[in-house]
Amino acid sequence: MNLRPIVAGNWKMHKTPTEGASFVETTVNLLLDIQHVSVIFAPPFTGLFDMDVPPPFYSAAQNCHWEEKGAFTGEISVSMIQECGAEFVILGHSERRHVFGESDDWINRKVKAVLAGDLKPILCVGETLDQREAGQTELVLKSQLEQGLASMDSLKEIVIAYEPVWAIGTGVTANNEQVELAHTSVRKILKELYPESYNIHVLYGGSVKPGNAEELIQVPGVNGFLIGGASLDVESFTSITRTVETVQMRTL
Ligand code: 13P
Repeated sequence: MNLRPIVAGNWKMHKTPTEGASFVETTVNLLLDIQHVSVIFAPPFTGLFDMDVPPPFYSAAQNCHWEEKGAFTGEISVSMIQECGAEFVILGHSERRHVFGESDDWINRKVKAVLAGDLKPILCVGETLDQREAGQTELVLKSQLEQGLASMDSLKEIVIAYEPVWAIGTGVTANNEQVELAHTSVRKILKELYPESYNIHVLYGGSVKPGNAEELIQVPGVNGFLIGGASLDVESFTSITRTVETVQMRTL
């Protein structure tokens, strides 16, 4: 299995539409020769509209509601995201889970709505520091995957992002062994849940930077990155993407 790697930038609540458009234009121009990596920009909703990027560049929303329309103040539906030309939707990010109290049941509804709208969910899972220290990492991953992916027809179009909560925005990266073990667990759990789920991307996220990208992308089971802080800066984001491209080219 040699999946085409994904480098996705989750901008969180950063960049106005103008700043975002200018960032994307500069970055795409610097990466025009990229051939072996898919690059995703995930701006806030306001920056999604009219973000016109040609493959291998794609855009993603950072969240959505599962209903098609209705009295849900502050929410955005899948068809609204579709019309902006996005291909992916990040779901279950740890900030959605821990800051905004999203439940696995909500996340499951969102995953289904996104797939029904022919978009691709990037489902985030990961343990907190307390859970890791209590030896519950695999248990947490299993529970998040089991509930988040409950009663689906297939996992064909799903991307999973393993993001240990303690590594997000902290500058602390999970070490290679921790990443490999977690990715192995994710794959094992997916296989148990959906035996035909053999070619699913599992991305790593949590303090990915130009300085650690080369090492992390070579950890077995890592098919790319979901990047926060370092995705906001043209130089670091392009440098990480180039590193992933170079490593991928060596394997072809
Ligand atoms: P950082 O790369 O800033 O740690 O954020 C990771 C993340 O949350 C991406 O979704």
